[in-house]
Amino acid sequence: MAKCVVINHPLIQHKLTIIRDKNTSTKAFREVTNEISMLMAYEITRDLPVEDVVIETPLVETTQKRIAGKKMAIIPILRAGLGMVDGILDLVPAARVGHIGLYRDHETLEPIEYFAKLPQDIQERRVFVVDPMLATGGSAIAALDLLMKKYGVKPENITFSCLVAAPEGVAALQAAHPDVDIYMAALDERLNEHGYILPGLGDAGDRIFGTK
Ligand code: PRP
Ligand code: URA
Repeated sequence: MAKCVVINHPLIQHKLTIIRDKNTSTKAFREVTNEISMLMAYEITRDLPVEDVVIETPLVETTQKRIAGKKMAIIPILRAGLGMVDGILDLVPAARVGHIGLYRDHETLEPIEYFAKLPQDIQERRVFVVDPMLATGGSAIAALDLLMKKYGVKPENITFSCLVAAPEGVAALQAAHPDVDIYMAALDERLNEHGYILPGLGDAGDRIFGTK
C-alpha cells in the first residue's frame, strides 16, 4: 500500500502560512518555498536504504552507515516545480534533475505537455516528482503516466511531493497511480469552480516567478 502523508511539522506549517499570505513578496515566496522543500526532503527520503561502510575516525576503525541503493533523480513539473528543486538538492546534492513541462489549459483544466528531458538512466533511479500544487491531479497524473509508460520508471520507485493538495487531486492521483507514494505539506479544503485550491496560495508559478 503506497503512502499518503501530510508532513505537518510546525516549521513547515509556519512557513506555509508565510507563502499563503498574498502580501508575501516574490523573493520571500521563492526562498520560503525552497526552505519548505528542504524540510520535506528530510521526510521524503526517510525510507532510503543504507549500507554498512568501514571508515577510520581519528581514533579507531568503525562500521557506519551510508545511503545505498538506487541513485536519485528530482523531476520538477514546470514551471512551478522548479521552485522546489534547490531546497531538495541542498539535502541530496548528487541527485540528477530532469524536467517535465506541463501547463493546465485554462478552459478545460487538462494538462498540456510541452517539454520532457530526463536523465538517460531514469528507469534505474529513485525518482522524486515535485510540483507545489496538486489541484485536479491532472498534471501529476500526466507526469507520472509519461515517466511510467514512455520511460519505463516503476511506480514503486516514484514519489510525488507537493506543498498544497486538494482532496480531489489526492483522490484522482491515488486512483490513477495507487502504487506511488504521495507527500504534501498541507491537505486543503477543496477546489473552487476554476480549479484553484482553497484556501491554497494562488497560482504557484506566478508567485514563484513574479509573472502576475
Ligand atoms: C499548476 C501547478 C501544477 C498544476 C496543478 O501549474 O504548478 O502543475 O497547476 O493543477 P492540476 O492538479 O489541476 O493539474 P500551471 O498549469 O499553472 O503551470 P505553471 O507551473 O507553468 O504555472
Ligand atoms: N495551480 C496553482 O498554481 N494553484 C492552484 O490553486 C491550482 C492549480
